Amino acid sequence: MTELGFDVLGVDVDATRVSALAAGKLPFYEPGLEQLLDRGLRSGRLRFTTSFQEAADFGDVHFCCVGTPQRAQSGGADLSQLFGCIDALAPLLKRPCLIVGKSTTPAGTAAGLAERLARLVPEGSGVELAWNPEFLREGHAVADTLRPERIVAGVRSASAEAILREVYADPLAAGVPFVVTDFATAELVKVAANAFLATKISFINAMAEVCEAADADVSRLAEALAYDHRIGGAGMRPGLGFGGGCLPKDIRAFMTRAEELGAGEAVSFLRQMDAINTRRRSRMVELACELVGGPLHGRNVGVLGLAFKPDSDDIRDSPALDVATALHSLGARVTAYDPAAIDNARLAHPDLEYAGSVVGAATDADVLLVLTEWPEFRQADPEVIGKAVAQRLIADGRHALDPAPWRAAGWTYRALGRPEAAL
Ligand SMILES: NC(=O)c1ccc[n+]([C@@H]2O[C@H](COP(=O)([O-])OP(=O)(O)OC[C@H]3O[C@@H](n4cnc5c(N)ncnc54)[C@H](O)[C@@H]3O)[C@@H](O)[C@H]2O)c1
Repeated sequence: MTELGFDVLGVDVDATRVSALAAGKLPFYEPGLEQLLDRGLRSGRLRFTTSFQEAADFGDVHFCCVGTPQRAQSGGADLSQLFGCIDALAPLLKRPCLIVGKSTTPAGTAAGLAERLARLVPEGSGVELAWNPEFLREGHAVADTLRPERIVAGVRSASAEAILREVYADPLAAGVPFVVTDFATAELVKVAANAFLATKISFINAMAEVCEAADADVSRLAEALAYDHRIGGAGMRPGLGFGGGCLPKDIRAFMTRAEELGAGEAVSFLRQMDAINTRRRSRMVELACELVGGPLHGRNVGVLGLAFKPDSDDIRDSPALDVATALHSLGARVTAYDPAAIDNARLAHPDLEYAGSVVGAATDADVLLVLTEWPEFRQADPEVIGKAVAQRLIADGRHALDPAPWRAAGWTYRALGRPEAAL
């Protein structure tokens, strides 16, 4: 928002985050964002605070982007951060402004929040709510924010729409589509998009399971499917499946909300998608056992990748970290390397061992696993890595590597959904 020319005040209840941001330090890894933070701070148009009073006095538009994680005891979304944010801000609002929800929420949440807001704001303050779901992808957050593929505006008045058009004047001038909806549709666009993306990934991973049974190659299958323009190849890469802080919890919250609305059957297929996704993780563990030819107890396993995807240090529901910890619990000595996520992984799993490089993770390994498709792993030299390992056995959970040079260097290369002899 600072980059788009606005004066911005960032508010968070986490004082450590606020002071780190004010000092120009990002609390997470995101390519290109640190430069924007630095530029914003230098411009004097970007500041951070823990004070809701300061925010209430400052903002014409308040974006509400707090977390909506999965509830501890169910698949539903925990909305307590949203309630906390609205409850803290609303009574302090003394002048007309627009509160814009960006968090991913179950359909009906925005309508409930609008009522809550109306109860809490001082009378006659002219405060309104809009819902504007966020579609950015971690690892591409900067580009996705400055030039999104579409902007969805859930509004209840022409003035709310006009304010959002003003906020997004720059991307709108560049031709970014602007879809105006009611609150529930705006909320549903976001969860429907994630449900579709999860389905696409799980579909190709279901095909990978069948390929494994039929001794066929899911990689070539996916390539051939992608030429059909009705199917397309984007977002349909076979491998270890999806994870992170969004897709898994969003499809579970979607199922829970649909059931509450009496439409559970319509999205019951998502349970299958979730199960296919989880099965890829156990299949990866099996593949590692197959490669070493027996139990992994006491064996050295090198793990490349811990983040749920490349260009991120996010380990929330990370398939890579899940596989690494599963191997550790089977008695394997796991040494892992990731270009960005080691600090987060170490905090969550101090029991694993960590290395500072690909060669470090590979040293003395009986088997090497590629679990996140960082470009650095694709560039690794099979000869150099081969000198470090105890056995030249590699399992590629992300179809990240070209098998030919690895095989040429004497490695046994296996990938999920591909026969042993696949080219
Ligand atoms: N991470 C993504 O790629 C992504 C993409 C699209 C949509 N979303 C959605 O955006 C929302 C936020 O996701 P996230 O990954 O950034 O979550 P997060 O948990 O990483 O960050 C949430 C932040 O909100 C702060 N917070 C909590 N309660 C607060 C309060 N009462 N007032 C002010 N700040 C408060 C937390 O301290 C934290 O800094 C979620 O609804 C998520 O589903 C995330």
